[in-house]
Amino acid sequence: MSLPTASHVRQQFLDFFASKGHHIVSSAPLVVKDDPTLLFINSGMAPFKDYFLGNKPAPYKRIADTQKCLRVSGKHNDLEEVGYDTYHHTMFEMLGNWSFGDYFKKDAINWAWELLTEVYKLEKDRLYVTYFEGDAGDNTGPDTETQTLWRQYTTDDRILPGNKKDNFWEMGDTGPCGPCTEIHIDLRSDEERAAKPGRELVNADHPQVVEIWNNVFMEFQRLADKSLSKLPAQSVDTGMGFERLMMAVSGVKSNYDTDVFQPLIRFIAQEAGVEYHGTSPATVTDLPATENEKTDIAIRVLADHIRAIAFTIADGQLPSNVKAGYVIRRILRRAVRYAFSSLNQKQPFLYKLVPVLADQMAGIFPELKAQQAFVTRVIEEEEIAFLKTLESGLNIIEHWISTYYEPARKTALNNGQDPEGVRIIIDGEKVFTLSDRYGFPKDLTQLIIREDSNRAMLAENWEEQFNFFLEKQKAGSRNAQETEQSDWVTVRDTDTPNVFVGYDQDEATARLLRYRRIDKKGKTEYQLVFDQTPFYAESGGQIGDTGYLESDLEKVRVIDTKKENDLLIHTTLELPQELSAEFIARPDAARRTLIRNNHTATHLLQAALRQVLGAHVQQKGSLVNDKLLRFDFSHFTKVTDAQLREIEQLVNERIRQQIPLVERRHVPIAEAKNLGAMALFGEKYGDFVRVITFDKDYSVELCGGLHVANTGSIGYFKITAESAVGAGVRRIEAVTAAAAEAYVDQQLDLLQQVREALGNPQHLLTSLDKQTEEIAALRKQLEGFAQQSLNQQKTQLAAQLKDLNGLKFLAAQVQATSADDLKKLAYDLRQTTPNLVLVLGAEIDGKPQLAVMLDDDIAKAGRLNATTLVRELAREIQGGGGGQPFFATAGGKNLAGLGTAIAKAEALVAKII
Ligand code: ALA
Repeated sequence: MSLPTASHVRQQFLDFFASKGHHIVSSAPLVVKDDPTLLFINSGMAPFKDYFLGNKPAPYKRIADTQKCLRVSGKHNDLEEVGYDTYHHTMFEMLGNWSFGDYFKKDAINWAWELLTEVYKLEKDRLYVTYFEGDAGDNTGPDTETQTLWRQYTTDDRILPGNKKDNFWEMGDTGPCGPCTEIHIDLRSDEERAAKPGRELVNADHPQVVEIWNNVFMEFQRLADKSLSKLPAQSVDTGMGFERLMMAVSGVKSNYDTDVFQPLIRFIAQEAGVEYHGTSPATVTDLPATENEKTDIAIRVLADHIRAIAFTIADGQLPSNVKAGYVIRRILRRAVRYAFSSLNQKQPFLYKLVPVLADQMAGIFPELKAQQAFVTRVIEEEEIAFLKTLESGLNIIEHWISTYYEPARKTALNNGQDPEGVRIIIDGEKVFTLSDRYGFPKDLTQLIIREDSNRAMLAENWEEQFNFFLEKQKAGSRNAQETEQSDWVTVRDTDTPNVFVGYDQDEATARLLRYRRIDKKGKTEYQLVFDQTPFYAESGGQIGDTGYLESDLEKVRVIDTKKENDLLIHTTLELPQELSAEFIARPDAARRTLIRNNHTATHLLQAALRQVLGAHVQQKGSLVNDKLLRFDFSHFTKVTDAQLREIEQLVNERIRQQIPLVERRHVPIAEAKNLGAMALFGEKYGDFVRVITFDKDYSVELCGGLHVANTGSIGYFKITAESAVGAGVRRIEAVTAAAAEAYVDQQLDLLQQVREALGNPQHLLTSLDKQTEEIAALRKQLEGFAQQSLNQQKTQLAAQLKDLNGLKFLAAQVQATSADDLKKLAYDLRQTTPNLVLVLGAEIDGKPQLAVMLDDDIAKAGRLNATTLVRELAREIQGGGGGQPFFATAGGKNLAGLGTAIAKAEALVAKII
């Protein structure tokens, strides 16, 4: 039997809801940009948060989509289950249909049943549904409406009540929420079903009795005081796990056995030369009992993780050491460790899966195919880097064990104990060190130690110790950034909140809607939201506006403007005294001009880069402020000086051509793309976009930022730096207008200073070359003199050697310019003097230095030891040192003690021999 294809099943969902009047939208990027509470989209409703919160009116009353989701951090985190069980994932698709103040329970339930049983033809007697039983604390009654609605379709023994935890869905601590009804499916065999009814396994973590769809009936808002208030409109938010739906419609027992994962699994097995058996441990906490289980877990981990890794990178998040970037790096390392340990892949491996995945997803998420080469490269580089530290880490563990293992066996033998019982204990601090310094996940260390169980074991309470150090570190970073944030305080309400009017107006009347207080390490700030504002909130790389809010009574400084989701937030250091006043909101005009220059220059730069370097250039990050612009883009090699010059010339040419801005708002996205507008991967675009054009044949971009009316006003563009920021990503920094002039002036001034320092020669470069040659010649001469002086000293010293109980002894202060000279002198003397015991002292760069050299045989005899001697003598110069038994050196702080150290040497040596 051939499996249903993922693309078909997905399309059936979208077509079904389109036929019910839903507008189909594409998935938002996985990485969340403007939301401090969320790193990644973790449910289908997250991109629509603002519609539920009322920060923005919904553009359609009915929407449906498939949304890429990631549950690997924060409240929803399934990472540790992934690979061990058959139905949890890092990245998954959530199919959803939404009503914003339109249909409610009746239609949602009708359609859910119709789709599952008539379109997907799931057997009705395998389905169980739940409804909210009510909660006394919240003063909410049972959702009998839902219960009654379900009675049309199924019997009471399949309609189960559920508590607040399972059947009252809340977006977060505050915000829209409501009772929900879940649909579960029992995929067990008929015998199993006969033996134990499915209703007993609903919500009991059974791998074949799983929730596939959740329908939430949003009708309340959870307030900060924990009470519920009724929302003005009733809405529906649903989420169906696509991979689980695939399992159900395919009639298989694991998400991994569906068309979603099979192409990847086949590829991994073939590439690694192993077989996939489809076995999994009985429970997630069990360790794999057999080699087959071990291989299968690794294959599932890889097939799962590559999706999260590749799509996050495609959506603009590179692996890094902070926040979302670190989450991705950890997932990648987890995958590398499974490939390394369980599939014996000692070379980069994961990156090879990208083309398979890209082809598979091209129809629904084309962003990966479009950036296949870039994503592959980033993953491979990450793998190479981690495989290196993986090796260092392994060496460190080996060192810890081997240093103590043999001595411990000897001790055991000496004490009459069985040496076979000896184990080196690795404690939790060591496990933490490995994780902290080498990025070793703790379970990797655990696995390695277990594999070495004949020599080592983990301390019994290692996890406790590990957590102790982890918490200590976390507490450290928490203290550093502790901020407290009050709830929003509402000043007034309006139906048209939070509108940006800055494209058309340099100032505007603004009325305060709400504010909150932020306390940061003793500093208080306020965040203000208005009905409308000309202030640009930081986004798309462009920095937020600063400026003033002015009323008859006062003038309040705005120090920054930011976006939180789509909320436009103005930050001030004081709260306006008269909250109800009408303010004139006035961004700093001069600063804005500079920002406009730099933003438009960024567009001109991007077009020039594509022209000079090629169409593979994609924006990977940008910063536009009043001082400079910074542009990161995908490109695999250093941009040469000649290319930089060409790029600069192209941009300046466009500036001189005085190209007028063509700004078009509300352009349908398809039309914008037809115009050749460059969209940014990882950016969330609506159906209508703003298109910024400077010459339709040169630069057309989707952009929400502020621009100059005419390129001529930028004046001048100058690149100041080109560098690498990561695998396959380069960075260009540049300045415009007066800042560009200032930069060039600075460079010219520097040149002038160099010229003057060289005595104003007629030909600067010739003169510099001459000087370089002269310096080289002088250096050579100087080295000759130093050598001569050393030779002379050597002859003199050799003459001063004296007999000390059959040894040739000498202690003397010499002239040396470096520690190397001193060493050379000592080695030279040893060559020509049998039985030598030599102590030399010198002042080098104003500091005392000692060296002790012994004849090899004397050192081997063991009575005298250069390291011991030099340490003893170094006490006189308040210093320390070390080396080998035959040669050791010491440096110190007390120059005056050098003579004493040398004078003391003879008596010291005489005493020992
Ligand atoms: N928002 C609901 C969930 O994520 C549908 O389960």
